[in-house]
Amino acid sequence: MTDPLLRFRDEFPILSRCTYMVSNSLGAMPRTVPERLAEYTEAWATHGVRAWAKGWWEMPLTVGDAVAPLIGAAPGEVAMAPTVTLAQAAILSAMDFRGGRDTIVMTALDFPSVRYALEQLAPKLGARVVVVPSEDGMGIAQDRLHAAIDDRTALVSVSHVLFRSAYIIDADALCAHAHAMGAVVALDAYHSVGVIPVDVKASGADFLTGGVLKWLCGGPGGCFVYASPDARERFAPALTGWQAHQRPFAFEESMAYAPGIARWLGGTPVVPALYAALDGPRLVREAGIERVRAKSIRQTARLVALAEERGYRVHAPRDVARRGGTVAFDVPHGAEVAQALLARDVVIDYRPGAGIRVAPHFYTTDDEVERVVGEIDGILATGAWKAFADVRPTVT
Ligand SMILES: Cc1ncc(COP(=O)(O)O)c(C=O)c1O
Repeated sequence: MTDPLLRFRDEFPILSRCTYMVSNSLGAMPRTVPERLAEYTEAWATHGVRAWAKGWWEMPLTVGDAVAPLIGAAPGEVAMAPTVTLAQAAILSAMDFRGGRDTIVMTALDFPSVRYALEQLAPKLGARVVVVPSEDGMGIAQDRLHAAIDDRTALVSVSHVLFRSAYIIDADALCAHAHAMGAVVALDAYHSVGVIPVDVKASGADFLTGGVLKWLCGGPGGCFVYASPDARERFAPALTGWQAHQRPFAFEESMAYAPGIARWLGGTPVVPALYAALDGPRLVREAGIERVRAKSIRQTARLVALAEERGYRVHAPRDVARRGGTVAFDVPHGAEVAQALLARDVVIDYRPGAGIRVAPHFYTTDDEVERVVGEIDGILATGAWKAFADVRPTVT
């Protein structure tokens, strides 16, 4: 039976040129993005500064509305932000650490960028970060995570899906426990939105951040922050800007936060990134996240099986309920094999400690899944990896 999701392949030009297995890093560009960017330049050329009044100023909210259905949010609940690191830092800046709650719970396997920011900011605000260790370098035991959340916890800022292993944290249980302890949850869902179903209403997350760069195929610069109705009432970020003001063009001397999600905006929006961000999320919505997830489970299971047949150490959960969209596995001479794969137009990435990360997406054929492992076989059998021993790693 043909895979109905393969009809989307024509929407992504790069798929005809290479085996693109790196959507966990940068999703393929939709063919219509040049048209969107042409709309941006046309608006700038034609309207000049008046383009702000013709939609540019509101774009962080209108694009947020396009992302909202992918996380189970309603229109008016999502604002775009330039990076997830900044969005998480803004959430931290909204916390009040006086009055006994002065810790932020993170995990050892969260994305380092977010941890860098929170660990630098926390002491300046009278708080400290508590890091929950990983026992196996792959996942975080949910009970240990819960045990770290106590009556001193103000904020739990953790990845929904861990970037190195694609391990899925149980967000519903985490939010229920954190709320019972009186803590606020800010989920970093960069590695979940677009490849696994995410429902902010079901989980009850107070905040959720993510980006369109990876599984949503929307390019760099299109990150987003959701705040629950309660969080929108209770919190306002100290890390703010004039877009978050009730009357930005009055240039008043003091801050008066706009109501609703608009208070999570910052300075002047990065407009071209927002034009580019539109079509990928639309295509994922059309594909249907349940279908995307079902296919991802099937193809990642196949990758795990292929890797295990060859005796490679698989750095991804075997339990499909805990496994996101990426399978990482260690092959001998992994860094060099990764370079050899790239030279053969098999686009993957490599992370020390995790190995070669392979990320099929809704546009991936089953043959491509087989091809990645088949090429690795060939590279190892022929010693082709040796040609890459001195090559500096490429950024993917
Ligand atoms: C889980 C996770 N969070 C955050 C980031 C980085 O976010 P940004 O560069 O938008 O700050 C990444 C990047 O790969 C990530 O995987």
